[in-house]
Amino acid sequence: MEEMRYLTFALGKGRLAKKTLEMFEQIGITCEEMKDKDTRKLIFVNEELKLRFFLSKGPDVPTYVEYGAADIGVVGKDTILEEGRNLYEVLDLGFGKCRMCICGPESAGELLRHHELIRVATKYPNIAKNYFYNKKHQTVEIIKLNGSIELAPIVGLSEVICDIVETGSTLRENGLVVLEEVCPLSARMVVNQVSMKMEHERITKLISDLKTVLKDTQS
Ligand code: PRP
Repeated sequence: MEEMRYLTFALGKGRLAKKTLEMFEQIGITCEEMKDKDTRKLIFVNEELKLRFFLSKGPDVPTYVEYGAADIGVVGKDTILEEGRNLYEVLDLGFGKCRMCICGPESAGELLRHHELIRVATKYPNIAKNYFYNKKHQTVEIIKLNGSIELAPIVGLSEVICDIVETGSTLRENGLVVLEEVCPLSARMVVNQVSMKMEHERITKLISDLKTVLKDTQS
């Protein structure tokens, strides 16, 4: 019999990876090695199931998957939209739910309604561009930032921001509100396009097992 090859998973570091591994445990996929918090190892192997896992920065997950360095990835929908890589998005994992929104002080609502040439600060320039240019047909100036986006309208860098809202507490504590919703977000499973063909059986089995867990948790 032909030796089974390893299926490699790229997981976005942090909360998403933790939730993903919890979900994988429910379908019998474990990786004990990965639970050691002090380890500096980058890659973890489950020899029995011929699986490999590695953690990377969220925005790098679609890159690893597009190039086939990972067969499968788990990453937020925000990152998938922003990176625009060629891959298959196969499953909504139902956790990490939040929204991509246009936010600002209440007063900025008027500027949005009148299609004024406003400045939009964001960590997601492609999502913001697509929303304003293709959906709203509104010309804006997009300013790329790398974090703490809520600061921008407070210190006068921009009129609004395009950012993730989860509980809404960051906005509330800084006197900002949601002005428009761009799209809902959650963690998604993505698959390399060639792997989907070459490892079709193993990957579709994984997807259907996860779907069963999702159904059970919903009911
Ligand atoms: C995210 C996002 C908001 C905040 C929203 O930032 O950019 O700032 O969480 O969450 P809330 O609605 O529950 O307050 P993150 O903590 O990831 O860090 P960042 O600001 O460095 O991007």
